[in-house]
Parts: sequence; structure tokens; C-alpha cells
Amino acid sequence: MSSRTLLTAALPYANGSLHLGHLVEYCQADMYVRALKRMGRDALYICADDTHGTPIELNAQRQGIEPLALVSRYHDEHKRDFARFDVAFDNFGLTHSDINRAVVERIYAELGKKGLLEDREMDGIWCEVDKRFLPDRFIRGTCPVCASADQYGDVCEVCGSTYTPQELKAPRCALCGTTPVVKKTTHVFFKISRDDMVGFLRKWIDSGSLQQDVANYVRNWIEGGLKDWCITRDGPYFGFGVPNKPGKFFYVWLDAPIGYIASSIEWGQRQGMSFDDAFNTLWRSSSTRVEHLIGKDIVYFHTLFWPAVLHAAELTLPSKVHVHGMLTIDGEKMSKSRGTFINAATFADHVDPQALRYYYACKYGAASDDLDLSFDDFVLRVNGELVNKHANLFSRCTQFLTQKLDGKLGDLPFGAKEAQGEPSGDGSLLDQARRVVQSARKAEQFFANRELGQAMRELSAIADIGNEYMQSAKPWDQLKTDPEKARETCTFAANVCHALAMYLWPVVPRFSEAGAALLGSTIDRMSSELLFAERKRPIGPQQRLFERIDRAQVDKVVEASKQTMAVASTDKTTSTAKPAAAQGAKGLPPVSAAPITVAPLKETVAYTDFEKLDLRVGLVTAAERVPKSKKLLKLMVDLGEEKPRQIVAGLGAVYEPEMLVDTRVIVVANLAPAKLMGIESQGMVLAGGEGESLSVLRIDRDLKPGSGVR
Ligand code: MSP
Ligand code: ZN
Repeated sequence: MSSRTLLTAALPYANGSLHLGHLVEYCQADMYVRALKRMGRDALYICADDTHGTPIELNAQRQGIEPLALVSRYHDEHKRDFARFDVAFDNFGLTHSDINRAVVERIYAELGKKGLLEDREMDGIWCEVDKRFLPDRFIRGTCPVCASADQYGDVCEVCGSTYTPQELKAPRCALCGTTPVVKKTTHVFFKISRDDMVGFLRKWIDSGSLQQDVANYVRNWIEGGLKDWCITRDGPYFGFGVPNKPGKFFYVWLDAPIGYIASSIEWGQRQGMSFDDAFNTLWRSSSTRVEHLIGKDIVYFHTLFWPAVLHAAELTLPSKVHVHGMLTIDGEKMSKSRGTFINAATFADHVDPQALRYYYACKYGAASDDLDLSFDDFVLRVNGELVNKHANLFSRCTQFLTQKLDGKLGDLPFGAKEAQGEPSGDGSLLDQARRVVQSARKAEQFFANRELGQAMRELSAIADIGNEYMQSAKPWDQLKTDPEKARETCTFAANVCHALAMYLWPVVPRFSEAGAALLGSTIDRMSSELLFAERKRPIGPQQRLFERIDRAQVDKVVEASKQTMAVASTDKTTSTAKPAAAQGAKGLPPVSAAPITVAPLKETVAYTDFEKLDLRVGLVTAAERVPKSKKLLKLMVDLGEEKPRQIVAGLGAVYEPEMLVDTRVIVVANLAPAKLMGIESQGMVLAGGEGESLSVLRIDRDLKPGSGVR
């Protein structure tokens, strides 16, 4: 029976732009599937946008558009970004689709038939003002364990404790700031704690589908006791309504993984299969092997709930759930204020996306370790390997052939078949060809096992063989006495390039296609058996393969990211946060939608009165909270003077200190100093609004600190 690999990458939320962290995942999966396909395997790369949930619903509401309009906008943007990074899905769908709804309903019915669903009355947290139940992430209050203020309803970001919203002290609604109440509601629970389910999960964890370290902590979760899973939510909610339960919707984390199934059915339908055919062949038959690639932050869903749902619905279980680590940049978490929270599009505007693919490929491994993008290392590696080793070998041999030897490949002193043997170690040309073939075979193995970093090391070794041979054989000298010997040398090097074009394709497809064109060939398979057969034919027209990258380009990316992130919404309540254990981006609370009373105008003043105020542009260089104060932040503000000034500002209820660092604000520079909570403030930072609806006044161009404001 022919066997197909169906690989999924996690579905990105259609609620924001793709960034370099996302690309860690989508590029890795893309390379793996491309390699499988080129090795003749039947492989599919399936993904979709994740469109449901409260954050998306509220984000759309705030922008005054329908959720679907918001989702479509990001869907289009994601498709554009993926194309720029050569991420080529076989199907990229949307979870908000009729097919997904149909699959969700089928699976829901199936779980019901197995007696795994139960309606339970429970306490919900209800906001009287917003007239809705609040998800944990929309409740803020004081951590019951460490007493840190302003924590989520389910997890404290300071001490890491998890708790129920009822345990949170001084709870507030994150939307309107009022105190919510407890109200009864009924929800559907999936009985994952039933003995047969737990037994199944224990066995599945041991089945080899997980990396060792991942299997260990998932086992600990199970031994710690599983709680039944609430799979519905109250409206208003953007999602699929639950059949026969008006006002209830399926929780986004139920329909999102089912989106893997729906998106693959869409692919099947495009191949002419019916819904049922596609469903059955792809998700109900042993002919398809399902693999998921996910980040560390969503392991819980993919290793407990999802396999349990699949098992209960008698669908194909994943053969692999491969977990990768998070992206760090220069050793630290991506940061908006440092400009290292980099959107895919911003990066592609300044640096060739293939450089990032190449770099990531070198760093991918089998473990779930974090992956560090170090900018210095990035520039060094791309220039040192992709340009100096790979591209350079292509240009050296093809230019020489074009300029000195009428652009024609010659013959080699061994047959293509002979190159398949074991290297003898005698240093002959045949021996070197065999070493190339040997490395190529290893690279195939590594690609097949998704050991991309190891595969890259083999490719680098192949390029070394070609470059060293050119260097030692010296075709420019050979040309003087024996031009055909020079042609042989370049023909060998061209065959090494052919191997590189073949094996680099999964990683840098455009580079490799251009490389093949230089050699006058096209390549559509990856097999060591095809190596060293390129002989006695013209090569292609000359062109440059890849430009060196310059650190200044990277600096531009960082600079541009600071700008984009300063204007982008960093709203905490509409950022698509994950339930406990996931990290959400720190953002601003929304501005209250309630009408305000416009205060009557003050008495008219003369210009000379206004002129007395000395307003200046200030650059915030540092910020921290004033201990024991909810509202006060201590800022250091550069006003172009000898030393930055210390200014105490009442922005802390809305802004986290790090959100203000590196922003240009407006300062009343000649205000008499005053002490606030015992700390001297040497000026005042201007802001509009008040309370939770407060907004600092920023300058949107990079004016010099100290510039006047009128
Ligand atoms: N929508 C959910 C997944 C549902 S799957 C049924 C989600 N979306 S996400 O947009 O937040 O993340 C998508 C994938 O990108 C996840 O696997 C996540 O781990 C990965 N990454 C997001 N940020 C990342 C980094 N900073 N670094 C590495 N991977 C990251 O989760
Ligand atoms: Zn509220």
C-alpha cells in the first residue's frame, strides 16, 4: 500500500501578522515536505488560518468590522508573507469554513455516541456592563499566591502560579474595569479523565510519537491528574454554534485542530475526491501517516486533547508530534522595544528571505531546544557559506567554462555508475566523487528524519570537496598546457554544483533553481543515483546567484521593526493569548467604549501665557515601576541635556515600563520639580485621557531629544 505523509504546521491566528518566530515552524515544515517530495515520497503540507475565539471577535468589534472581514484580511496577508518566504502549502485554508463546521459536527456527534460528553452546570465570571461571560484572559486582578497586581484570571505571570478566576483577588473585567460577578452557566465537557481515555493516552505517549523530553513531561501531566475539558463557550463568540444548544459555541481549541482535517479535505476535493473519500483516505486509513509540527507552547493541546479526540472519533492518530523550541534573537526573547519583534514582511523588505531559510536550516535539530537567531552569526554564516562556499563554486566553474572553454561541459575519467561505489581514500577524482555521493546519501537520510541542521553540514562538506578540488587542480594553470584537463576539472566542479542544486532545493528553492539554470539544467528529483551524470553539453547563461548580506540591512530591519511595533496595536485583550502556560504579549487595555462627558473649556489665555510653558521632545531611555504604586512609573528622559532627567509619570495603570522605552514623548521641561511618593520628578510627560483610557503623547518622527514643541 502506498504510504502518504500528511504534515501539518500549527494554524496561525488570523489576528496578527506573521513574525520570525512563526517562520521557525513554517520554514522547517516546508523544507521537510519539499525534501520528502523530491525524494519521491507522497507528502502533503497542510495548514490553515485559525480564525475563532474571543480575541478575534473583540478585535473586529473594536475596528468596527465583521470578524470574517478581519480574518480575511490576515488570511490574505499571511498568504503573501508565506509566498515571500517560499513556504508552499498543499492547502492553506481557514477554520471558519463549511467543511470544518461539518467535520466538527461529525466529531462532536461521535464523541457523544461514545458517552464522552456531559453537560455540566458551572460558575462563569460575568460582566454586567459588557453583558458577557469573561474568558480567563479577560479577567485581571491580584495573584492569590504572590499578591502581584494586574494578573490574568488563570495564571500569574510573575510567580507562574495557576488558579481559578474565583481565587483571583480584586478581580476586574479587562474590558471595562468593573468588578464582575459569578453567574451559573451550562457547558459541554469532554470526559478525558475517564479511565479508558487516560489508559489510551498513557499507551499513546509510550508509542514513540513524541520526543523523549516531551513524552516525559506529558507523562507527568497525566500522572498529575487530567481534568475534563470544557469544549463550549457562551456567546457572543466568533465560532461554530453547537447544534441544538442555542447561544453556545464550540471552543476555538476544539475546532482549530479539526481544521487540520478540514484543510486536508479541501486539498482532496481539489484532487477530485469527494468529502467522504478525502476524509476516509486521509484520516481513516493506515495509508496516511499524520505528523504535526508545533511549538513548545501548544504541547498540551496536541499531546492530550487532540489524540484523545482522534482516538474517540476513531481517526488516524499522529505518528509524530514534533515539538520545536521558541525563537530567541541574540539570546533574548523577541522584544518590541528592542526592535527584535520582527514581522516576516518587514524582514523580507530588507533581506532576501532565502538567507533566513538557509540560517534556520543550519540550526534545526531533533530536540525541542530554543533556536537563537544571532544577527552577527546570521551575517557570517550566510556570507561565509551560502555565498562564499556554495554560490562561489557555481560562479567559479561556470564563469571559467563560459569565458575560456566555450561554455561546454566535458567528460570525466569515470562513469556515473562508478561514482556510486565506496570511496577508496586514494584522493583520486573518482574517490572525491564517491565522497560527494556518500555525503549526499547521508543528507537524504537526515532530510528524511527532519535533521535539517545535519543535512546542511553534509551539503557544506560537498561544497568543500568541490572548492578544494578547484583550488588544488588550478584550471587556470591547466588551461595553458592542457585545456581539456581544465575542462575536466570544471566538469567535476559543475557536477558537484549539480549535487548542491539538487540538495539545497528544499532549503533555498530559488537559489537552487537559479543554480541549476547556470548549469543549463533543471532538477526535479533528489537522488544520489543521479549524480555525476552531467557531461558533454552546454551550460546556461551566466547570472549572479546571491548577493552578500550586509549588517546594515539587518540594522534596517530592526529599525523598521521598532517603528511598526510602536504604531501596531499591542492590546492585551485582543492579542490572541493562549490559556495558561503560554506567554501572551504584553499590551494595552482597550480604551473604554463608554461615552465621556467633555469638560467645559477653561478661560482663554494669551499666547504669551502659553509661551511660558517650555515643551520639549524627550526620548525615554529607561523606565521602571515605582514600588508599591500601581500608577506611577519612574522614567529617565533624554532632553538633549547633559544627563537624562528623572520624571515620575502616572502612566503605570496602562503602560508596562518596557513599552515606553525608546519612545519619543512630550515633556513640560520647565515645570517646578516635585516629589511623588518620595521620588523627585523633574518635569511632566504629557498624556491624553484618564484612568484606563489614558494615552501617552508620542512623536511619530525621530526628532532630536530637546527639540522644541509649539
Ligand atoms: N492558533 C494556535 C495553533 C492552533 S493549532 C491547531 C497558535 N497560533 S500562533 O499563531 O500563536 O502560533 C502558531 C505556531 O507558531 C505555534 O506552533 C507556535 O509555537 C509557533 N510560534 C509562534 N511564536 C513563536 C516563536 N516566537 N518561536 C517559535 N515558534 C513560535 O498557537
Ligand atoms: Zn466589563
